[in-house]
Amino acid sequence: MNRVAILAALILSACGAQDAPLISSRMISGDAIVEPLTKTTGDAIRGEKLFVSREEGHCILCHKVDGLEAEFQGDVGPDLSFVGDRFNAGQLRLRIADYQLVRPGALMPSYFRTHDLHQVGKAYVGETVLTAQQVEDIVAYLADRKTSDDDA
Ligand code: HEC
Repeated sequence: MNRVAILAALILSACGAQDAPLISSRMISGDAIVEPLTKTTGDAIRGEKLFVSREEGHCILCHKVDGLEAEFQGDVGPDLSFVGDRFNAGQLRLRIADYQLVRPGALMPSYFRTHDLHQVGKAYVGETVLTAQQVEDIVAYLADRKTSDDDA
């Protein structure tokens, strides 16, 4: 590549990083992201920790899950105790990654989005709140929240 081509490639990739949505319409089918965001399967145990963590997931600020060892669970969002009955993994993935694509303007933050962020702090500009792997871990945890599960 000559110098001009390299420069052009750099500029293009820099713009792409800023503007392209992480979750593109190609990845969505119906109301779900069917394909996992990572090759490593989500880990439900890690997902539970993230869900409870007030530093990382913040989920329990707004949601509760029956049987979860955590004080002061929130009720701004729906009770997620049996969310696995309502949604499959793909539907959960879309809701956690980019809820604005499900219902624009909802109070639920978009955890895997870098553009048009409204609900997250300025510290996160240009970064996703959760990594792709963390999204997968929480998907694995929530997909298990079913009435038929004994180990809830
Ligand atoms: C600031 C409060 C808030 C936080 C923090 C939050 N949520 Fe939500 N969540 C909501 C609200 C409100 C809704 C309902 C959105 C609507 O009105 O459509 C929702 C909806 C959902 C839904 C869909 C539930 C349903 O029954 O339709 C899932 C799944 C979900 N949140 C998971 C999470 C996870 C996982 C986290 C942490 C990574 C999280 N939420 C953090 C407020 C929050």
